[in-house]
Amino acid sequence: MIKDNSLSTYQQEVLTGLTAPIKYLPSKLFYDTQGLILYNEIMGLPEYYLVNSDIQILKSYGKKIIQAIAMSGKELFNIVDLGAGNALKTQILLEESIKQNLKFHYMPIDIDAASLASLHHVLVQRFPKLSIETRHGDYFEILQNLKDLAHPKLILFLGSSIGNYTTEDATQFLNKLNASLNPGDKLLIGFDLVKDPAMTLAAYNDQMGITKKFNLNLLTRLNNEFGADFDLQNFIHYPSYDPLNHAAQSYLISTKQQTVNLRKLHTKIEFYPWEPIHTETSYKYQIEQINQFAVASHFNIRENFYDDKKYFVNSLWEPK
Ligand code: TRP
Repeated sequence: MIKDNSLSTYQQEVLTGLTAPIKYLPSKLFYDTQGLILYNEIMGLPEYYLVNSDIQILKSYGKKIIQAIAMSGKELFNIVDLGAGNALKTQILLEESIKQNLKFHYMPIDIDAASLASLHHVLVQRFPKLSIETRHGDYFEILQNLKDLAHPKLILFLGSSIGNYTTEDATQFLNKLNASLNPGDKLLIGFDLVKDPAMTLAAYNDQMGITKKFNLNLLTRLNNEFGADFDLQNFIHYPSYDPLNHAAQSYLISTKQQTVNLRKLHTKIEFYPWEPIHTETSYKYQIEQINQFAVASHFNIRENFYDDKKYFVNSLWEPK
């Protein structure tokens, strides 16, 4: 690892990844402006079954999920949305709560300030009476600040974001989450389930090539931000699915021996022919693993909500 104190953490992370024995790039790099546009396109792809499954679950069980936190229906509660993005899915729960005339605050949290601003704009148009308080920044810092809220919280960690962590990191994340909750709070967390491997693989390798563009956009971003000279012609998008550990992996692979210059980082990166850069892991789960996560992070599973094909589960947890 190269250490250079004049670099920002972000630059250092990129440099660490690209100089590691097995090259990788941090997945949070995907979500720049162009990346967010492409990611929204991915969410509408026929192969990306996750979104439709998730939406179906929230439409079918939204009422039940909201009732778990609203209880009597008289007491105020909070919906805290981790990584809200465009809150496409969350809006189903907001609509349900409004329909039931419940008193609640919606707090979307995101690391992207622009996304939060546009979400705020969209939501006040759609739900003029919604009490919305956007929070920009780190999940845990914000949750720590919310710990003293008098009213119960429903934390949403929707989509399959947990699947982008290793088992160890996911367990740590869930434990931190547990530590920032109070008795009576709830967590609704999404897990993508193990299914036909061909179907999983297709979700990360769509016909239209949007996922390919999304993956290659990482290199464009490095070109723009670090004055790098990645030639996108010399890299391919390569997804794989390993049925042994249920991991969908995304790589960018150098099709030839080449040297890439990251001018602003004063670093040259050598690639051997067909050398991969690992860009993302998306784990899929069996229900038994989900139970183990809950045990390891001191939550009780209150109920699992599935889509009718059992592709995906939204699991409702409460701290022990
Ligand atoms: N991280 C998300 C997932 O695992 C988003 C995503 C979809 C993604 N397709 C991707 C990330 C391709 C990297 C590469 O589902």
